[in-house]
Amino acid sequence: MLSLPVLVVFLSLVSSLPLSLQTALLAPIHKDNSTHLYTLQIYLKTPLQPSKLLLHLGASFSWLDCYQNYTSSSYLHIPCNASLCASLHSLACSNCYDAPAPACGNDTCALFPENPVTRKATIANAIIDSLALPTTDGSTQGRLGLVPDFVFSCSRTFLLQGLANGVTGLAAMGRSNYSLPAQVSAALSSPRYFALCLSGTPSDPGVVFLGTSGPYYFKSLTSKIDLSKSLIYTPLILNPVGSTVITYYLQPSDEYFIGLTSVQVNGKAVQINGSLLTVNENGFGGTKISTVDPYTVLKTSIFKAFTQLFVSEASALNLTVTNAVEPFGVCYPANDVFSTRVGPAVPTVDLVMQNNDVFWRIFGSNSMVRISRDDVDVWCLGFVDGGPNATTSVVIGGHQMEDNLLQFDLESKRLGFSSSILAQGTTCANFNFTSNQNLN
Ligand SMILES: *[C@@H]1O[C@H](CO)[C@@H](O)[C@H](O)[C@H]1NC(C)=O
Ligand SMILES: *[C@@H]1O[C@H](CO)[C@@H](O)[C@H](O)[C@H]1NC(C)=O
Ligand SMILES: *[C@@H]1O[C@H](CO)[C@@H](O)[C@H](O)[C@H]1NC(C)=O
Ligand SMILES: *[C@@H]1O[C@H](CO)[C@@H](O)[C@H](O)[C@H]1NC(C)=O
Ligand SMILES: *[C@@H]1O[C@H](CO)[C@@H](O)[C@H](O)[C@H]1NC(C)=O
Ligand SMILES: *[C@@H]1O[C@H](CO)[C@@H](O)[C@H](O)[C@H]1NC(C)=O
Ligand SMILES: *[C@@H]1O[C@H](CO)[C@@H](O)[C@H](O)[C@H]1NC(C)=O
Ligand SMILES: *[C@@H]1O[C@H](CO)[C@@H](O)[C@H](O)[C@H]1NC(C)=O
Ligand SMILES: *[C@@H]1O[C@H](CO)[C@@H](O)[C@H](O)[C@H]1NC(C)=O
Repeated sequence: MLSLPVLVVFLSLVSSLPLSLQTALLAPIHKDNSTHLYTLQIYLKTPLQPSKLLLHLGASFSWLDCYQNYTSSSYLHIPCNASLCASLHSLACSNCYDAPAPACGNDTCALFPENPVTRKATIANAIIDSLALPTTDGSTQGRLGLVPDFVFSCSRTFLLQGLANGVTGLAAMGRSNYSLPAQVSAALSSPRYFALCLSGTPSDPGVVFLGTSGPYYFKSLTSKIDLSKSLIYTPLILNPVGSTVITYYLQPSDEYFIGLTSVQVNGKAVQINGSLLTVNENGFGGTKISTVDPYTVLKTSIFKAFTQLFVSEASALNLTVTNAVEPFGVCYPANDVFSTRVGPAVPTVDLVMQNNDVFWRIFGSNSMVRISRDDVDVWCLGFVDGGPNATTSVVIGGHQMEDNLLQFDLESKRLGFSSSILAQGTTCANFNFTSNQNLN
């Protein structure tokens, strides 16, 4: 957290310095150690107030609880007949008989914000207010840059249930025109790219870069490295059917799907029915990326085949399973497992994409989860069973993304991935957040 005097300095700079075009912005990302969800810190309203929002890669628009502490001199409602309301794919127009407030107005464009964890939804006004985030040159953090017309949705307080402590809303990162990255790029005329680097350590934040294709500098042992130089690309695939609670006729999903074609353990392919790995016309099957699933979720048939192959490959390393700890199915005594700079020494897992040269390599730091309590000390395979009827066959979760850089290129509709950056001697917590007031 910024201390109060520093914040006051930042706020006064925001109002005095307009942003130049093509500026990039950033936000720190914290992991919540009780829910294993990720939160993003942004500034909203006038005067600007820090707000902690749930990071959700799959959401179309952001939302904020408007019923507690919403004081701002700059909020605006959106009339139902405005073209903005139509482009938000609004399904409703609301009226209200209480005192005028962000959540209360007549003839205002309404949306259906959703909580992706509890899968509850409500109806609430769409509103416009100011947003600010630190500028960046990819190497350090500059003064705050303002996006004066950020469009998002109000919500009711109950929609926050199940989210991390202190969270007051949700930051949408999906492929829609009104996600946070899309609006930042549009406002700053910046390239439509964002890059995510999740840190696994709750005390040390990771980072998201908005409106830039790079560089993305991280401190390493010797100097600093630009992770935009070490990405491999795979196309982003459109799922024709959204999975939101409130469905929008003929609107595709705003989640990020990729074309996984095979999963390999130590180079050996897991036997998977290939039809499970493609998205069909009803939106079933395929592989997506989700920051609201702490661990990768596999449809039962894939989970069984994958864990069997992993156990057999691990036995060649003299690893013998012990009692599993929920929610995992395969665990090893921590004392039996050697450690390496990319985590515990276990078989490598490769997610193979469009051809055999394009694979996301998962080492022990991303495949295994340490559970150390009074009664147990084990390393468990950090993948969970999604059941036989899971809609999406493979959901790549937060743990598998930590200390990996993922670049979402919305210009060319492709995903750039680095695999573990521990192999390059750095971590997602190694971005230099020391503010540099000279940076424009
Ligand atoms: C979460 O982290 C904080 C500070 O790092 C610590 O005080 C707290 O005990 C942790 N909570 C859990 C559930 O691990
Ligand atoms: C509202 O803001 C006040 C003052 O900043 C703070 O003390 C209080 O905890 C906030 N309430 C909620 C529900 O966020
Ligand atoms: C929306 O409605 C208002 C009042 O009914 C009207 O003045 C305005 O011209 C309308 N705008 C559009 C874009 O139709
Ligand atoms: C909406 O219109 C009704 C009827 O004209 C009025 O009673 C109410 O106060 C208005 N609401 C707001 C928030 O202005
Ligand atoms: C997003 O904006 C582009 C350009 O304005 C437009 O062509 C496209 O239809 C919009 N997408 C949706 C889903 O509304
Ligand atoms: C693969 O899955 C599809 C759809 O679930 C099913 O129709 C087909 O029979 C399966 N093929 C095999 C070889 O199991
Ligand atoms: C596994 O254990 C056997 C017998 O103790 C030993 O000969 C072998 O070298 C071990 N293999 C590995 C990979 O550690
Ligand atoms: C999966 O779907 C089948 C067929 O619709 C149903 O019979 C079965 O109970 C479902 N299984 C679970 C675990 O939901
Ligand atoms: C971090 O950035 C600040 C300026 O923003 C700079 O003075 C400092 O040397 C940098 N630290 C490292 C370790 O690069």
